[in-house]
Amino acid sequence: MNVSAFAGVRRDNIEPYIAGEDRIDGQENVLKLSSNENPFGPGQLARTALVESLNSPERYPPQDHAALRTAIAEAHGLEPERIVCGAGSDEILGLLCRAFAGRGDEVIHTHHGFLMYPIFARAAGAEPVEVNENERRVDVEKILASVTTRTRIIFVANPNNPTGTMISGMELERLADGIPDNVLLVLDGAYAEYADGYDGGASLTETRPNVVMTRTFSKIHGLASLRIGYGYGPEPVIDMLNRIRGPFNVSGPAQLAAAAAVGDVDHVRRSRLHNSRMRQLMAARLEQAGVPSDQSHANFILARFGSAAEAAACDKCLRNAGILVRRTDAYKLPHCLRITIGDVVNCEVVCGVIAEFMAARDKDQ
Ligand SMILES: Cc1ncc(COP(=O)(O)O)c(C=O)c1O
Repeated sequence: MNVSAFAGVRRDNIEPYIAGEDRIDGQENVLKLSSNENPFGPGQLARTALVESLNSPERYPPQDHAALRTAIAEAHGLEPERIVCGAGSDEILGLLCRAFAGRGDEVIHTHHGFLMYPIFARAAGAEPVEVNENERRVDVEKILASVTTRTRIIFVANPNNPTGTMISGMELERLADGIPDNVLLVLDGAYAEYADGYDGGASLTETRPNVVMTRTFSKIHGLASLRIGYGYGPEPVIDMLNRIRGPFNVSGPAQLAAAAAVGDVDHVRRSRLHNSRMRQLMAARLEQAGVPSDQSHANFILARFGSAAEAAACDKCLRNAGILVRRTDAYKLPHCLRITIGDVVNCEVVCGVIAEFMAARDKDQ
């Protein structure tokens, strides 16, 4: 079968997505700081719900995700009818491309944006259009200048992965105001809970007919393995996604655990507080060691080295110490390493190894 020509989707055009590594050959007890997972995992409420959910694996899960949508709506002050749940927010991003972009259409994403945006755009037969950032920060004016009559979707992650930077509510409004109504603005809020005072774009979806927010349970809620996320937006958009998704796209355990997790305010608060404290401490320690970073609003830090060679050498040194962080070459940031904020000990260990690496490098020079 000629997969290259199938449905206008070209295989040689689609870069395989390579996730954060979870193994180092020959090493046990690897410290994984490569996928932005919550070091505490889920809270007790979600753990209990998950264990109970395993009692009836023979049953199909609720097709309409009704209880979960109600729990999300109550926790965030949203309308349950305008929520669509998916197997991770990844599924929602993919569904949006399938539903609203196709051959001849353009999908905008930013220079250091999440790698799945161009993959999903191409899988839908559309053309991804990459827009430059300004010093690793999304540039609204450049996005607006790139909109054409063929643009169908604009993806903006706020805070962005892997830079950790974010743009203000005013900038988001300017972006939403500056695009035609037939262009969908997708605000990816995978890390929204880690950003102080940010609603993930929820309020913008209330006043605009073409703004959608996506959220995940993989990060602050600690449920990455269950694959669960959701989208929130105008009713016709959400209705469209519900029509094209699989009927049982979210497993029963995932629905139950997520419904418990979203109401576990204490666990979310504790995770957020720990993260901001450690983020500040880590950034300061790395800076002291000669490794600067931009102010991060997420649960990771993008550490900037002097060169790509230096970042690669530091990564090698970390791997020798049994620590996995994320190389960011594919994000066009070869001189950087993205480090997830772990627990207190994890943070100390990773900063210690980097500081030693930098000190040894200074001696060699
Ligand atoms: C910016 C961004 N969006 C979406 C996702 C997808 O997350 P999930 O499919 O686990 O909800 C990620 C995962 O790393 C991400 O970094």
